[in-house]
Amino acid sequence: MENTTKGKVCVTGASGYVASWLVKRLLESGYHVLGTVRDPGNHKKVGHLWNLAGAKERLKLVRADLLEEGSFDDVVMACEGVFHTASPATVLDSAINGTLNVLRSCKKNPSLKRVVLTSSSSTVRLKDESDLPPNVLLDETSWSSMEFCESLQIWYAIAKTLAEKAAWEFAKENGIDLVAVLPTFVVGPNLSHELSPTTTDVLGLFQGETTKFTMYGRMGYVHIDDVASCHILLYETPRAAGRYICNSAVLDVNELVTLLARRFPSYPIPKSLPCVYGEQTYGFSTAKVRELGMKFRDVEEMFDDAVDSLRAHGYLLNSEWSKFDDD
Ligand SMILES: NC(=O)c1ccc[n+]([C@@H]2O[C@H](COP(=O)([O-])OP(=O)(O)OC[C@H]3O[C@@H](n4cnc5c(N)ncnc54)[C@H](OP(=O)(O)O)[C@@H]3O)[C@@H](O)[C@H]2O)c1
Repeated sequence: MENTTKGKVCVTGASGYVASWLVKRLLESGYHVLGTVRDPGNHKKVGHLWNLAGAKERLKLVRADLLEEGSFDDVVMACEGVFHTASPATVLDSAINGTLNVLRSCKKNPSLKRVVLTSSSSTVRLKDESDLPPNVLLDETSWSSMEFCESLQIWYAIAKTLAEKAAWEFAKENGIDLVAVLPTFVVGPNLSHELSPTTTDVLGLFQGETTKFTMYGRMGYVHIDDVASCHILLYETPRAAGRYICNSAVLDVNELVTLLARRFPSYPIPKSLPCVYGEQTYGFSTAKVRELGMKFRDVEEMFDDAVDSLRAHGYLLNSEWSKFDDD
């Protein structure tokens, strides 16, 4: 663990699933972290952050809300870097205005080095089949089609896409050094006892609930610790610029459940599931981030770690656990 003292950075939505890992890794590498949360006094939501190594010495939690103009001014003014991970669930206007609200605070701080925005691979991959040739490798030049998302009512992807586009425009107009991380579906240990929407879906799958993953179809998966490292790598690498897809592997839902049912035979995971969208063959290119030195953990490791964590938090029974050891 590196632990030389580094500068002061802000993490918005610090108590969230992804942000908590980011705070953990930033503290471990010596940063002073100003985390924003909507209610610093809510122990259920923030308690896990105070247990992180270095938190007592170098973590401060401050109240800020994306929906309140100027709410981030003071905290951003005190920092040299900003990681903007907070995201209101699906409300379109609040996603765009919330991101612009944080960037307006960034504009007021002339000594800010860089802003790292947590976007999503859903800003890249959702488009009509005719725009996805067989086995296409999608890279950072690809944007999801808003018409396609509207036709399927995928509001999350619309909100993330429009928020990221608005961020690029604002950063360009105002000379802000912005980079964006585009994670696929994030899997791994939950630092908080409170489960994020993503982990709730994973828990559901291990309890035999398949609707969510069936609807997700073919999807990329990435370990949460890699997502945290990727944010820090992009912050610390001066030549990093633009968007970065953050993904380990892309699997059809059927491939995923076959793998998981074999690896975790004592949980009620079906051995196969229908691919409701027909045959999908797209993949993601991660050449751009790998070129900066990023490496990704495999799907087996991310689900092993997720299951260990769900057991530790009491959401899955220990006795049900048995991993098929095929190493
Ligand atoms: N999880 C994934 O698979 C995945 C994949 C790709 C991208 N992402 C992106 O990663 C980021 C974090 O996602 P996550 O999975 O960690 O979600 P999460 O656990 O639900 O965290 C979201 C955070 O946003 C905060 N937030 C919501 N509305 C807010 C508001 N009005 N003002 C201030 N903060 C607000 C929440 O704060 P409170 O604690 O106050 O509610 C929470 O800490 C998001 O930008 C998401 O789009 C996630």
